[in-house]
Amino acid sequence: MATEFILLDASTLPAFAGLYVAVFNAPPWSDGWEAPAAVERLNAFAGHPRFHGLGMQVDGVPVALILGWGERWVQTWHFHIKEMCVAPHLQGQGLGAALLAELESRLAEMGYTHAHLATGQAVPARHFYQHHGYRDLPLLSLGKRLQA
Ligand SMILES: CC(C)(COP(=O)(O)OP(=O)(O)OC[C@H]1O[C@@H](n2cnc3c(N)ncnc32)[C@H](O)[C@@H]1OP(=O)(O)O)[C@@H](O)C(=O)NCCC(=O)NCCS
Repeated sequence: MATEFILLDASTLPAFAGLYVAVFNAPPWSDGWEAPAAVERLNAFAGHPRFHGLGMQVDGVPVALILGWGERWVQTWHFHIKEMCVAPHLQGQGLGAALLAELESRLAEMGYTHAHLATGQAVPARHFYQHHGYRDLPLLSLGKRLQA
């Protein structure tokens, strides 16, 4: 089993859209993505000027991804992890931990001092991130419907 990290960008990211759909259409998210919308979402991320993402492939097949973008903060740059997922049949085997560690290491080398992310309050991913040093912040996520 040959496992490799690949840098995600506008050219490599579309191959990971199927993985994204498979993961986030499954519990606990059950989002209901159609492939074109997922491709559009991922491509839009890749257009961010401070976009950075890593994919993981096993024998050339996309099995995991992590991506986000940098935001200037008061003294330094912080990185916002926007998406992370591991193929359902490979979850719980350490791939996510390896991918997160690889991204964090690369971000630190690039000068980022902090990483942030948002996830569900009651999903397994919350415990995964907490296990890897991510702490609850005193922030509240708010949303508003703009069309009836
Ligand atoms: C969250 C996620 C990225 C973690 O990746 P992963 O490869 O499953 O995680 P790992 O195997 O490295 O670690 C999972 C931890 O949970 C434990 N675990 C046990 N069974 C598990 C299971 N069925 N699924 C996930 N984790 C499991 C592992 O033992 C491990 O604990 P440890 O760190 O204390 O050893 C992945 O499970 C995933 O894609 N989930 C669905 C999508 C999602 O929620 N993404 C995050 C949205 S913000």
